[in-house]
Amino acid sequence: MLAIEAAVDMDTRRALFAQVRRHTGIDMADRKWTLLHGRLRRRLQTLSLSNYSDYLAVLDSSADEVGHFIDLVTTNETSFFRTPRIWNYLWQEFLPAWHAAHAGVTLQVWSAAASTGEEAYSAAMLFEEFHQKHPDFKYRILGTDIAQRVLDVGCSGKYFGRNVEGLKKARPAMLEKYFCSDGTACAVAPSLRTHITFRRHNLYQGLVDPACFDLVLLRNVLIYFDRAGQETVLENVRLSMATGAVLIVGESESLNRIRTGFNYQQPLIYQNERTAA
Ligand SMILES: C[S@@+](CC[C@H](N)C(=O)[O-])C[C@H]1O[C@@H](n2cnc3c(N)ncnc32)[C@H](O)[C@@H]1O
Repeated sequence: MLAIEAAVDMDTRRALFAQVRRHTGIDMADRKWTLLHGRLRRRLQTLSLSNYSDYLAVLDSSADEVGHFIDLVTTNETSFFRTPRIWNYLWQEFLPAWHAAHAGVTLQVWSAAASTGEEAYSAAMLFEEFHQKHPDFKYRILGTDIAQRVLDVGCSGKYFGRNVEGLKKARPAMLEKYFCSDGTACAVAPSLRTHITFRRHNLYQGLVDPACFDLVLLRNVLIYFDRAGQETVLENVRLSMATGAVLIVGESESLNRIRTGFNYQQPLIYQNERTAA
């Protein structure tokens, strides 16, 4: 196996961090070098490269390599029904109020930075339960992420291991009802999949279609951006939201010190008060 040169000078590290920022917006300081090196070294070996200067040249000349790079530098940790509080909020407060105010309208939901799709499918399970109580309730979910590798998992709708175990523990009835197991993987039921579309999207760009989302889950991704990046992303997202639409952020995220067009509602939950346009 080819050895990657051990000492990597500061200029080369900075050039790699700059590529991370350029392609994802993720802000990596020098203390993240060990993490980045740990993620990229195997890729260099696969490409038979022994140093990062050569890798940077490949990155500059190959769009395919940029895709691999994005897959490697992003952190894709997620789980079904992550942060129980927000799912309780959706069930007890958001869905009844939205349904009462929007008879016959389809709820448009965006799982932004969806990773492998557990968040989008959790939302779909909850909405299916609501639909069973209120048959006129309809919904659509768009799941997006910058990394193709994780989107492919979401599109496949097949899960196994830790995340399935987590769902089994937290909501066993949901696992039973909305998945079927083929012995190795648990596959999401077609009745859920039909409501969800996954596609690649960089949060630093606006969505191409002028969608008007009523609910956006933008969780555990702002933490990777610097303040200016967070403001850019939040404004892009806001412009895709209906007036009064709800934004939910991750457990360790807050918009407190950021300039945005969102109003605080309760912890992790914000509302778009301005007209989108
Ligand atoms: C930690 S996961 C969060 C997944 C899910 N939202 C959750 O809370 O469980 C962060 C995701 O953000 C994605 N991401 C990072 N930068 C992005 C960008 N500029 N645009 C879109 N997605 C991005 C990563 O690929 C990763 O899948």
